[in-house]
Amino acid sequence: MGRTQTENTTEPIRALDPRFYTDPEVFTQEKERIFFRTWQYACHEGEIENPGDFVVFDIADQSLFVMRDANSVLRCFYNVCQHRAHELLQGKGNRKLIICPYHAWTYHLNGRLKAARNTTAVRDFDASKICLSEIKVEVFCGFVFVNLDSDAAPMNDWYPNAAQDLASYVPDIDRYRLLWAHNADEHCNWKVAVENYNECYHCRVVHPSFTKGVIAPQSVDIVPQGYTLRHSAQGVVSDKASYSFDDTTYRVIYLWPTMSIQIYPGRVVNTYWWRPKSLTDPSVSRLAHT
Ligand code: FES
Repeated sequence: MGRTQTENTTEPIRALDPRFYTDPEVFTQEKERIFFRTWQYACHEGEIENPGDFVVFDIADQSLFVMRDANSVLRCFYNVCQHRAHELLQGKGNRKLIICPYHAWTYHLNGRLKAARNTTAVRDFDASKICLSEIKVEVFCGFVFVNLDSDAAPMNDWYPNAAQDLASYVPDIDRYRLLWAHNADEHCNWKVAVENYNECYHCRVVHPSFTKGVIAPQSVDIVPQGYTLRHSAQGVVSDKASYSFDDTTYRVIYLWPTMSIQIYPGRVVNTYWWRPKSLTDPSVSRLAHT
């Protein structure tokens, strides 16, 4: 049976109490205290290169979109109209203006209200005071992150040296572009998925092609640093390797709580992005970049 970690460092670290994986109240608190206060992945910068490009995404039950405005400034907004809270955008695409599909309030790409029909007779209506609710954005080695907490510390405080280290592993990482995406539902609590990702005890059993053709499992090391976990391993150097590569190191920087960037031998970059939708239903996206 699991128990929570104690202050006594001589005690072995054990799994969280089971209720942390099954109690809906815990998930409600996680939304408020974790997902709405941590840096969350939104999309890759290459998906929103031009003014007006946008991508809609969710953080738990909140719909948001990132957009490049007319001056190419990257912005993130709640995907909610300021009039009667209708959803504004879906999917991804490009807009010259943001027009609400309900009553056609029209916003500039920087979120400011441009026009609202039939409001000239509305007393004290001042369009210049109305703007979509904006959220913090940072670009991290080409990956766009947002934080719903307006007081959140910058990513470099949360993940010290992570961006610099990634850039030293893959010098042109910020010029990589999204190549391929695979989405899947994992029918478990999001912490089970993340905890599984951050151990390789299962790798020999579950991922034999990985442990025979890509990395030497006995060389796996995982070290915490700030709110990251740094994985490293030696790539397989033999005719059994799944592919040929010059740089033989496998490295991972897991960014707590729901994103991880992997550098496979040969500087192949892919990412894991977990999106907890409910207590027992995280969606995971595996994204490859080139
Ligand atoms: S809800 Fe958007 S214009 Fe009315």
